Amino acid sequence: MPSYTRLVNKSHPLDPDYIPCDLTEAQIPFQAAPGDPKRLLRARAAQAAQELFQRARHMRLQLSGVSGYRSYKRQEEIYRQSDSGLVAPPGCSEHQTGLALDVSCAAVNYELEESFALTREGKFLADYGPMYGFILRYPKGKEKITGYAWEPWHIRYVTKTLSLYLSLINLTLEEYYQL
Ligand code: DAL
Ligand code: ZN
Repeated sequence: MPSYTRLVNKSHPLDPDYIPCDLTEAQIPFQAAPGDPKRLLRARAAQAAQELFQRARHMRLQLSGVSGYRSYKRQEEIYRQSDSGLVAPPGCSEHQTGLALDVSCAAVNYELEESFALTREGKFLADYGPMYGFILRYPKGKEKITGYAWEPWHIRYVTKTLSLYLSLINLTLEEYYQL
């Protein structure tokens, strides 16, 4: 099974048949209905997300999960139907790892849009995610390096050690692996 810190992007794709073997439903509020694969994350990422969301609740913030795990086949369908350039080609999406989660909140109608960054929940996600093992994977200003548009809603579990390191020195996973 790929490690928690594995780089996945357009030049480092996953095998089409890769499915994480420890997917579990994250016990956090979700937009998707119970039983939807979007509610799945790998066990350690699910646990970390639960702790992050609990911290948010204590601060009276209401985060909501929008999309976690996505199979190669599902990514293929979304990619075919999309023309926005925001969607990763099949195999190149971190959602296939079960370590990525899209998050939103009521203030932006649970949409995945840039204005989420301006909400209290969006700021919380950027500031507190690294303490729980998550990085904002597609930062503003690093689009050429990551190969993807700015996505203030997409967090990726990389372990607490690495998330703290990357956020402290403002590095993307791509930059980390080129060191
Ligand atoms: N929107 C991100 C890049 C994805 O499709 O995985
Ligand atoms: Zn995402």
